[in-house]
Amino acid sequence: PAHTIGVDVGGTKVAAGLVAPDGTIVAKTRRSTPPGDTGAGTVAAIVDTIEELRAGAQEVEVRAVGIGAAGFVDVQRTTVVFAPNLAEWPDDPLATQVEARVGLRTVVENDANAAAWGEVEHGAGRGEAYVVCITVGTGIGGGIVLGGELYRGRWGVAAEIGHLRVVPGGRPCGCGNRGCWEQYASGRALVREARTRAEEDPDLALDLLALGDGTIEGIEGRHVTAAAQKGDPVALGAFEACGTWLGQGMADLAAILDPGCFVIGGGVSEAGDALLEPARRAFRAALTAGSHRPNADVRRAVLGNDAGIVGAAALARR
Ligand code: BGC
Ligand code: NA
Ligand code: ZN
Repeated sequence: PAHTIGVDVGGTKVAAGLVAPDGTIVAKTRRSTPPGDTGAGTVAAIVDTIEELRAGAQEVEVRAVGIGAAGFVDVQRTTVVFAPNLAEWPDDPLATQVEARVGLRTVVENDANAAAWGEVEHGAGRGEAYVVCITVGTGIGGGIVLGGELYRGRWGVAAEIGHLRVVPGGRPCGCGNRGCWEQYASGRALVREARTRAEEDPDLALDLLALGDGTIEGIEGRHVTAAAQKGDPVALGAFEACGTWLGQGMADLAAILDPGCFVIGGGVSEAGDALLEPARRAFRAALTAGSHRPNADVRRAVLGNDAGIVGAAALARR
């Protein structure tokens, strides 16, 4: 049975894997995306990872490539039309460019859609036909599976849940709007929250500050996660705030979509219950008619950083 290659294209890196039909990653590689790139560098990095993986496994038949990209992808699944958190993205259809250079059928999908598909095929959403997968990273990505199929909308850009406007007139977002969910519950929001709290009470934040370079600006997402795991009050407060925003947005999504479960992935979800517990609490409190209906299960993703690779490869296999 043929293998496929899954590529995950984010703001800072291109990660790729050669994936067996059962979802196992056989080999993995990555490149950093060149800063100030115009899109050509990203394409080159993608092609590079694919060629490296093929060269390393010549006995394996590779049938197709799936690319998950952090932006709006057109309905033909060939091109990124808008990417609020990427500096640049390729103008010409990404799929066509990659196909021309590697000679493999290539499909482009939104990064969070790919991750959602990975979790449903091979991860936390297995066996569920109605799943909302939320990727909490730099921004918030969404993937919606309805009746066992990825829901892409009329133009391919459904499930852009990071841009639910939860605070009209609120914080500016990379998409050009204000008050988007990803400005309140993403990794960036978490860091902002932690920095604000550390500024307000530097003494209480000593342990958190010590994980970085000692300055407020030196606080990074991984520090907040590490501190929360040790029970640090400032870090836990920041997770509580973001988790609460997360749960509230989930209640709105459940009002529309009635999923069987939510799967929470992305880098921020690695903090586990520090994020998930406040999210579950806020979700239960805000869910309309919550005591008169089954409440969706809120699960942590199991594929971690590999969800995009595994999911893109699974989509390429179809
Ligand atoms: C973008 C989505 C993407 C998500 C996660 C959002 O800002 O609009 O397309 O899936 O970030 O990367
Ligand atoms: Na999506
Ligand atoms: Zn937005």
